[in-house]
Amino acid sequence: MINWDEMSNLHVIQKLKQILVRWFGVELFYANEHNRLPNSFLDKNYRFQNPFMKIQMGMNYGHEFLNSDVEKVNDSFQAHSSINYSFYDSFFPGIKGVGTRITLEGEHAGSIFAYPFLSEDLTSEEITELKQKLIECGSSELDANMAIQQVHRLNKSEKEYLRELVELVSQEIVTFHHEIEKREARILELNSELGTKYRYHSMIGKSKQMQQIYRLLEKISRSESTVLIQGENGTGKELVAKAIHYNSPRKDSVLLAQNCSAFNDNLLDSELFGHVKGAFTGAIKDKKGLFEMAHTGTLFLDEIGDTSLTMQVKLLRVLQEGTFLPVGASVPRKVNVRIMAATNKDLKQMISRGEFREDLYYRINVINVHLPSLRERKEDISILFEHFLEKKCAEMGAQTKSVSKKCLEKILDYPWPGNVRELENEIERIVVLAGDSKNITPDMLSSKITDFGSTPSAAAARGVRITGTLKEAMEELEELMIREGLRRCNYNKSKLAKELGISRAGLIMKVDKYALDKRSMERSRKEQESA
Ligand SMILES: Nc1ncnc2c1ncn2[C@@H]1O[C@H](COP(=O)(O)OP(=O)(O)OP(=O)(O)O)[C@@H](O)[C@H]1O
Ligand SMILES: [Mg+2]
Repeated sequence: MINWDEMSNLHVIQKLKQILVRWFGVELFYANEHNRLPNSFLDKNYRFQNPFMKIQMGMNYGHEFLNSDVEKVNDSFQAHSSINYSFYDSFFPGIKGVGTRITLEGEHAGSIFAYPFLSEDLTSEEITELKQKLIECGSSELDANMAIQQVHRLNKSEKEYLRELVELVSQEIVTFHHEIEKREARILELNSELGTKYRYHSMIGKSKQMQQIYRLLEKISRSESTVLIQGENGTGKELVAKAIHYNSPRKDSVLLAQNCSAFNDNLLDSELFGHVKGAFTGAIKDKKGLFEMAHTGTLFLDEIGDTSLTMQVKLLRVLQEGTFLPVGASVPRKVNVRIMAATNKDLKQMISRGEFREDLYYRINVINVHLPSLRERKEDISILFEHFLEKKCAEMGAQTKSVSKKCLEKILDYPWPGNVRELENEIERIVVLAGDSKNITPDMLSSKITDFGSTPSAAAARGVRITGTLKEAMEELEELMIREGLRRCNYNKSKLAKELGISRAGLIMKVDKYALDKRSMERSRKEQESA
């Protein structure tokens, strides 16, 4: 329905109002879809511009008189669906007004009034009658005379002009109402567009990093390529695998997952590739492996960084040739499976240490999804918090809760080494602890969170100085790093300089400054021993 307050404040309506006052001396007002006058009219302090209105509304029943006019006009609108305006005689004899109706989608939405005016052919008897009525209703004779004098007397064409302007006001209101509706619909639409960006499948996150991931996942889902999902523990790797599968053309087929670190080589072999009857003791019948069961679907190899080199060779063969050999079988089988793999390990580093096959890495890393840690996208913490809070409260049948600002600050400060999973667990704990209380306050948080950064002991325990000047602290740290570094690198200054990212000459100067060369160190050790 029409937002009348908003309409009354529109510049164009204000302007038209001014014109109506200046040219015709009338007050412009509305009645809503229920034919009610604005509440402001009931307020004793409302300032009517028109002197006649001032007097009328100052009367005990002035408001009622106006209401009865409004009802009368609306009755005539109801009785004659084809008319859009009505010149009417008000409660006060000779005083007239004009009302126009507003219809939205065939429904009565309100009416606009311009009031009061007199006809130019008013006789002196009629004026006397009006004056008497005003006095009867509580006005003084002086006021009544003044008010009547100031009411404009309009001729026929002026009345027509007045009607046109009032109709214009109605039209403007309808137009603006539609504009506002469109604007609101657009806002809703934009919000829902934004809404989808706040989540993808069951992943939540509004950070730039997550938006990029959503866009990437959108593209990946449509392709058939192998995907490698990397990220720390609890960053949502499994969630990504599910999101990709369930948005892909394979969504109607299965998604099977295997945690590669859960089994030893033999068992994993049989899990993935199956075995034939008699392949080993206990293999009493043929068993289908996951590769076969995932035919036309997706197989998710979780913790792929934990597979042995022998297993890696077998996996490579499936990826290269689409064939595999069940344990104990002699004829390879063919499958059509999309592979996704995940790990929290640095596979590149593993390759350099000879622990992961480079050829397998390139086979699985066709598309790489790297999930950022929670501390790299702190802006997601509060919406994840809200999300889990709502979810956990609902799951546990607990009352909905809100989180205090102070509490949220603590949560944001904490580095969340266990990422989203740790956050989720923390919230579950909070919901249990909070019981019936509606507000979540810092005292309900785990001590690891409340203590983080706030107690000197945390920093001090790590041997970091936290008082004194910054220069002193930096020097202390510099000395400590060089001392430890020298020992670790067996006093190889070139190596340490490289590690520390400074020049060898720079390191030598610092070693000298802190008397950390081998000889001085040994001397001071001996001194300490003899003391
Ligand atoms: N972006 C996210 N939105 C909502 N929930 C998430 C999000 N990321 C992770 N989670 C939730 O956090 C938990 C851990 O996610 P998931 O198991 O996918 O992580 P992971 O990276 O596979 O962890 P791990 O390395 O330990 O296997 C799950 O309960 C998951 O629902
Ligand atoms: Mg996982």
